[in-house]
Amino acid sequence: MSQLLVEGGGRLHGEVRIQGAKNSVLPILAATLLAGDRVELQGCPRLRDVDASIRILQSLGCRAAWEGDVLAVDTAALNRCEISDILMREMRSSAIFLGAILARCGRADLSYPGGCELGPRPIDLHLAGLRDLGAEIREEGGFLHCTAARLRGREVVLSIPSVGATENLMLAACGGEGVTVISNAAREPEIVDLQEFLNACGARVSGAGSSAISVEGGHALHGCTYRVMPDRIAAATYLCAAASAGGDIFLRGANEQHLSTVTALLREAGCSVTGDSAGITCICQGPLLAMRPVRTAPYPGFPTDAQAVLMAAVLRSRGVTVFEENIFENRYRHVDELARMGANIRVAGRIAVVTGVETLHGAPVRCTDLRGGAALCVAALAAEGQTRISEICHIDRGYEDIARDLRSLGANIIREEAGH
Ligand code: UD1
Repeated sequence: MSQLLVEGGGRLHGEVRIQGAKNSVLPILAATLLAGDRVELQGCPRLRDVDASIRILQSLGCRAAWEGDVLAVDTAALNRCEISDILMREMRSSAIFLGAILARCGRADLSYPGGCELGPRPIDLHLAGLRDLGAEIREEGGFLHCTAARLRGREVVLSIPSVGATENLMLAACGGEGVTVISNAAREPEIVDLQEFLNACGARVSGAGSSAISVEGGHALHGCTYRVMPDRIAAATYLCAAASAGGDIFLRGANEQHLSTVTALLREAGCSVTGDSAGITCICQGPLLAMRPVRTAPYPGFPTDAQAVLMAAVLRSRGVTVFEENIFENRYRHVDELARMGANIRVAGRIAVVTGVETLHGAPVRCTDLRGGAALCVAALAAEGQTRISEICHIDRGYEDIARDLRSLGANIIREEAGH
C-alpha cells in the first residue's frame, strides 16, 4: 500500500497552482450526458473519483479520454442507461448520474449508493424531487429502477439544501418540459459552476448561488469547451497547512470569495490572508490563537469538508477551540489518529473540543476518509520527527497529488509507492 512520509517541523514557503474542483467536475461529468455531443473540460483534476466517472461514462457507451491536459468527453453514442453495482460502489457520489441519465434516456437503473465513511448517505431528497418532476422510481433489493416518459417542470422544495439533490434536479429539469424552480436549493459555488457549464451547452438555468434555481427545460443542448472552477477545499487544505506549520505561501488560482468563512477564522487565529484575482497569499508567524466556535453549515457557512483540516491546524494553538459538525454524523474519525501525534481533543456527539498542546510528534497514522487524511498531512507538517501516513487511497479520491503540492510549498513530504 502506498504511504506518505512527512518530516515535520519546517516552515512552508512557496507557491502552488490550485487544482480544478472535484465537487464541481463530478456533476459536470454527469451533465455531459445531456449534451449528447463533444465536451472539452479544461482544468479537470486527475483524481480517483474522476477516473470512476470516466469509467461510468464509458460503460454507458460514451467516449471519455484525456487529450493532454484536456478531458474530452463525447456522449453522442450513449447506448445504455444502467450503471453496474461495481461502478456505483467505486464512488459514493455516483447518484448524481441519475438525473442526467433519466433526462436523456427516459429511464435509469442503478444500485443504491449506500453509506460511506462519513455515515449514512441517504438520497431520499434526490428521489422525492425526481418523483415531483414525474419520475416513477421503484426501489428493489438495493436497486433503483427509474422511468419517466416525460419529466414535467414545477416547483420542487427541498427540506434541506442538499448539494447532490440540487444538482440532480438541475440535470433532470434540463430534460423536462416547462420551468422547474428548485426552492431551498444549495448555494455552493460548485452549483454555480454547474449552472455555467449547462448554460455553455445551451441550457437555460438561472439563480444558482441563491436559494431558488430556475431551469427552463426542453432546450436541445450541445457540446462546449469549459474550464472547471478552482477547488476551494484543496485551497483550504493548503491554507491550513501554512497555519499549522507556519510560513508564507501563495495559492495560484484560488478564489478567496469562496473561502471567506475559512479565511476569517485563520485571520482570527493570527494569520494574514489576502486574496486578489491571481490567488491567495497567506502568511502565518508564531503560534496560532484559539478561534471562535467553528460550526459547519451549508454554504455560505463554514464547509464541513474543511472541518478536519482546520482542526489539524489548531492543534498547537494557544487556548481552546470548539468544533460543531452539523452536516455529517461520522466526521470525527480523524480525531483518534491526531491523538496519536499528541493532540488533545475531546469528542462528545457533534462537538469536538481542541485544547492546544506545546508540541506534536510524528507517529504512524492511517487515513480514515478523504478530508481526514488531508488533516493528517496538515498536522504532520507541525509535528516533530517523521509521520508515516497509510491508506492514502482516501486522499487520492480528492487531491491530484498532495505530496507534490505540499513540496512546492516547501514541505518535506514524499510518497512511497506500494511495493517499494
Ligand atoms: C456534497 C459534497 C461533499 C460535501 C457535502 C456537504 C460532492 C461530490 N460532495 O455531498 O464533499 O461534504 O456536499 O457540503 O459535491 N441528505 C439527506 N437526504 C438526501 C441528501 C442529503 O438526508 O437525499 C443529508 C446528508 O445526509 C447530509 C446533508 O443532507 O447530512 C448534506 O448532504 P448533501 O448536501 O447532499 O451532500 P452531498 O451532495 O452528498
